[in-house]
Amino acid sequence: MNKNLWVIANWKSNKTIREALDWVSYVGPKIPKIDPSADGLKVVVCPAFSALSEVKKAVAVGNYPLVVGSQDLSPYNVGAYTGEEAAPLLKDLVSLSIIGHSERRENFTETDEIVAQKVKRAVENNITPLVCVQGSDTLVSDGCKLVAYEPVFAIGTGNPDTPDNAEVVARGIKSLYGEDVEVLYGGSVTSENIKSFIDMENISGSLIGRASLNAEEFVKIITSL
Ligand code: 13P
Repeated sequence: MNKNLWVIANWKSNKTIREALDWVSYVGPKIPKIDPSADGLKVVVCPAFSALSEVKKAVAVGNYPLVVGSQDLSPYNVGAYTGEEAAPLLKDLVSLSIIGHSERRENFTETDEIVAQKVKRAVENNITPLVCVQGSDTLVSDGCKLVAYEPVFAIGTGNPDTPDNAEVVARGIKSLYGEDVEVLYGGSVTSENIKSFIDMENISGSLIGRASLNAEEFVKIITSL
């Protein structure tokens, strides 16, 4: 394998601690045992904040090659920001954070400026920022080398973009922001269609919502690569 292959589960606002642990104990032992810090397959799970610490513990105890990420982080540092999850507090729990998901831009009025601040906080704390864009015209902030192209029409609809179009967007993002930027595709990805996306030259994996919630389907996704 000559490129990284990211398979990232974004659970969104789902799963109790119990449900999260059941998922980890089913999926964890079935992931190929390779070092997630080496090039190659990188499987990441992004639970809700409420389950992060238990998921992190379960992954460590099982010694699973599973990376734990968050779905967001605060644009601020530590301090008087009630309800916020600051990067210095998250860094012991996560090594990646999804930033600027379209659901946050739409429901929580997150702007490109806020996304840029969050990327900065992540980088300062050695958390890999994964910025979500809706097309090659969405701004990718400085310091971000991992981008997910997630067209809004494809999210949760069962109507994915075509692999060819995703490839064109991925190419566009790389020409704008550098060949070292890795681009993922997200939007109605399942075990049936993931291969058609990751076979594209410029697509380095997938960010998966609904299909990642079901542990059996998620394992099928990994085994279908
Ligand atoms: P679905 O896989 O449910 O379409 O969601 C995609 C997504 O938003 C992942 O971040």
